[in-house]
Amino acid sequence: MNFNQKTVLVTGASRGIGKDIAIAFAKAKANVVLNASRMSDYFQEVIDYFEENQFPYVAAVGDVSKQDDVKKIFALASEKFGQVDILVNNAGIIRDNLLMRMSEEEWDSVIDINLKGTYNCTKEAIRPMMKNKWGRIINISSVIGLIGNPGQANYAASKAGIIGFTKAMAKEVGKKGITCNAVAPGFIISDMTESLNEDLKEKYLLSIPLGKFGTTLDVANTVMFLASDIAEYITGQVINIDGGLVM
Ligand SMILES: NC(=O)c1ccc[n+]([C@@H]2O[C@H](COP(=O)([O-])OP(=O)(O)OC[C@H]3O[C@@H](n4cnc5c(N)ncnc54)[C@H](OP(=O)(O)O)[C@@H]3O)[C@@H](O)[C@H]2O)c1
Repeated sequence: MNFNQKTVLVTGASRGIGKDIAIAFAKAKANVVLNASRMSDYFQEVIDYFEENQFPYVAAVGDVSKQDDVKKIFALASEKFGQVDILVNNAGIIRDNLLMRMSEEEWDSVIDINLKGTYNCTKEAIRPMMKNKWGRIINISSVIGLIGNPGQANYAASKAGIIGFTKAMAKEVGKKGITCNAVAPGFIISDMTESLNEDLKEKYLLSIPLGKFGTTLDVANTVMFLASDIAEYITGQVINIDGGLVM
């Protein structure tokens, strides 16, 4: 795939899935706006990698749950590259707890970053996309937003909210040449899945028809497909990347 002349903003690109989505787009010749909530050693490593490979990029530190930060991220993107053509709303957190014990802070922080962050970034992105009559918005949801999970009421609500938001946006902006889709990863090999004990991993693997966990590249490939011209007639959809876990 070739995204030459296109600019992609990937939120939460300092590690995990967002980092590999950003690298996949860079390898496909896109200009990349890298975002994370703060500067960190691991964000610096991503930046160094982009420098070493001479990928066109700009690093925009900012908290997606804060509108002022998001305006600054987009200002930096347009100063460097003109505008954002492809938005990948990937930044997300978990704060798991049973609802009886879940604090207001645990609820609010997950909704604010996962769901309001998606609203904040999409709101900034769509005006220039409309003017340009082309745009791609890809939201990272989760299978948990489809099936729920005990201890994750906040996370499940945020990810289900993203799915409703995706469909509403698809209907709002479709006639302007903008598609809006969601992907719902299942178990993706990450810091989170690596920390599970072996018994639990075995149990989860038994419920996955393809018999293995997914990779960050599996997610990046689907996101790139949805961002490409060959996916121009797909909007308002949720694509599960879960080895058949949920069907
Ligand atoms: N891993 C899985 O198995 C899985 C499954 C389904 C869905 N997902 C979804 O996929 C996305 C990425 O997951 P992951 O496993 O790669 O997570 P991760 O490794 O924890 O990375 C999360 C990223 O989000 C950033 N972030 C957190 N809060 C932010 C904020 N307020 N503003 C901007 N950036 C922020 C983090 O940057 P900092 O450096 O600033 O912390 C980091 O780059 C999430 O939306 C997650 O819900 C993951």
